[in-house]
Amino acid sequence: MTKNYPKVSEEYQKAVDKAKKKLRGFIAEKGCAPLMLRIAWHSAGTYDVKTKTGGPFGTMRHAAEQGHAANNGLDIAVRLLEPIKQQFPILAYADFYQLAGVVAIEITGGPEVPFHPGREDKPEPPPEGRLPDATKGSDHLRDVFGKTMGLSDQDIVALSGAHTLGRCHKERSGFEGPWTSNPLIFDNSYFKELLSGEKEGLLQLPSDKALVVDPVFRKYVEKYAADEEAFFADYAEAHVRLSELGFAEA
Ligand code: HEM
Repeated sequence: MTKNYPKVSEEYQKAVDKAKKKLRGFIAEKGCAPLMLRIAWHSAGTYDVKTKTGGPFGTMRHAAEQGHAANNGLDIAVRLLEPIKQQFPILAYADFYQLAGVVAIEITGGPEVPFHPGREDKPEPPPEGRLPDATKGSDHLRDVFGKTMGLSDQDIVALSGAHTLGRCHKERSGFEGPWTSNPLIFDNSYFKELLSGEKEGLLQLPSDKALVVDPVFRKYVEKYAADEEAFFADYAEAHVRLSELGFAEA
């Protein structure tokens, strides 16, 4: 989709650049890149293309949205980010949470994802229940990412590669463990692990396993496991689409 990005003031752009630097240091020091990527994704992934509601518009700052079951643990992300946000009152939360996601990918060795500022904060959280259910398979993934968010099969697989970072926490999702043996490095090891099957100490959610069972998804899993550059290129494009759902539509 062609985009029509708003023009932000020089002062706003300066704040974006400064906040990006602060976030780099902060996220590296705390080792919290996975949680930062998850808050960016759960903020954006509520977008509904039909009603043009939800999306990356800063509503995760509200306790009500942090209280959605899918967002367990994201109150920690909001709390961690707040002292930095306070240093940049000019920035919208909407931009700030997405910036944190982009920085998390960059500082763990992933692709540089272009960031366009200018999102505005919306007052109301979206309804609960729009994010994907980890116990379900490919039809569900296509319903959520395809029909609701308007993303493609390729986007689904590329974006799932974000599980190269981080882990599941029993007390947050009911699942436990990381997807790879280097959960603070953004690389293509998630896809290699998916193809090599279950391994002691590592985890694959039903929604991850669906990517190797469905023949269309599997084609991309094989491509990304064999070619990290191709994964990075497709990931960066898919992440821009995700982070700009409902934003700057021409
Ligand atoms: C395909 C559908 C998806 C499902 C069903 C899913 C489900 C989950 C679940 C259950 C967790 C564990 C949460 C916890 O216990 O802390 C998790 C973590 C995570 N997810 Fe996803 N996810 C999906 C897609 C994505 C996407 C598209 C991204 C980013 C683009 C993403 C990024 C992450 C990250 C970085 C973590 C680790 C968080 C941490 O270590 O604290 N996920 N996901």
